[in-house]
Amino acid sequence: MKRVLFVCLGNICRSPAAEGVLRAKAIARELDLHIESAGTGGWHAGDAPDGRMQRAAEKRGYDLSRQRARQVTREDFLTFDYLLAMDLANMNDLLAIAPPDRRADIRLFLDFSRSAERETPDPYYGGAEGFETVLNLIEEGADGFLDYLEDESG
Ligand code: 4NP
Repeated sequence: MKRVLFVCLGNICRSPAAEGVLRAKAIARELDLHIESAGTGGWHAGDAPDGRMQRAAEKRGYDLSRQRARQVTREDFLTFDYLLAMDLANMNDLLAIAPPDRRADIRLFLDFSRSAERETPDPYYGGAEGFETVLNLIEEGADGFLDYLEDESG
């Protein structure tokens, strides 16, 4: 079973949403994946996803309420197949702390998407529309990532 870790800064907005969306879409395709999310920062460790993101996701049928934030660990680089960064800062932060013997492929999540965007913008300090933009990008990215996995496994 492939293991996928989404990574953003706080692990309360973007990466928990990506975790919930990919999990639902993988189940719908009957693909067996282990999916988690984490933050490069640890300020929100133990917190549930941001209420604004939970509500926006719930309207689309994704329940994020049982997820809890945690910080990326050294072990994550050894135990996951994919570390999917939500923006370039997240990816650079991961590359900077990656152990040389890592197993994980560190990729920008939206590079698997058909969308022209490469980065999922941080919605934390913006208005409600930012959460919808993030969910649109994540849904498209999740479809692209699952297409990629299906192609890869033949
Ligand atoms: P996220 O958004 O990286 O999408 O979870 C953020 C949430 C909180 C903070 C930064 C980004 N923060 O600095 O507290």
